[in-house]
Amino acid sequence: MSDIDAQKQAAGEAAAKLVESGMTVGLGTGSTAVFFVKALGARAAAEGMALKCVATSKATAELATSVGLKVIDLDKAGTIDLTVDGADEIGPELMLIKGGGAALLREKLVWEASLRCVVIADAAKSVKMLGRFSLPIEVVAFGHTTTAGRIDDALAWCGIAAEAKLRVKDGSAVKTDAGNYIYDAACKKIPDPELLAEALKSLTGVVEHGLFLGLADEALIGTDSGVERRAR
Ligand code: A5P
Repeated sequence: MSDIDAQKQAAGEAAAKLVESGMTVGLGTGSTAVFFVKALGARAAAEGMALKCVATSKATAELATSVGLKVIDLDKAGTIDLTVDGADEIGPELMLIKGGGAALLREKLVWEASLRCVVIADAAKSVKMLGRFSLPIEVVAFGHTTTAGRIDDALAWCGIAAEAKLRVKDGSAVKTDAGNYIYDAACKKIPDPELLAEALKSLTGVVEHGLFLGLADEALIGTDSGVERRAR
């Protein structure tokens, strides 16, 4: 296992210890969240914990079910006690970029329905200013190139010279679990994430963006010398 994977695993396993029997738990998406879901499944089985889980993607729902966790729909869950999820970047005040795995819409819906959100990551995800990782933006398929042009205008209005690019995999546009497209904007630096979040959210055709601001309560970051805990 690589050092980065070991850090992800340590963060995921530390987060699994935060879960208590009786909780409704939001399950994130991505390679770090996989370690969390597996550790939680193992713990729940060993300790006979009664848990209900809400998954942020179809892939996570399948994994959770395969490790014996009970997955329910967000609409049946009511308030979620704790959500644990990965991130592509962790900036100051635990502002995040998410969506590298194209699950940002469901992730944000689950995060916003949660009483407590814990982000788990390897140490390389920590940055002084958001923007090194291209910002994912989920866009309705109808008229998406027109919407992309308006995204570029919004980026420019925020002082960011970047062109949103349609995410393509194996020659086809990536479709999200909700059937939308993802555009990625290589911002490099996002000096005012709140301003950009507001500008993107105001565009018709933009379903959601990957800026998670004021949502993470704490971070568990795997490092070579253990798991570092950061509060917002
Ligand atoms: C999924 O859409 C993302 O928000 C992931 O949570 C994020 O990309 C982190 O993924 P890794 O844990 O695989 O780095």
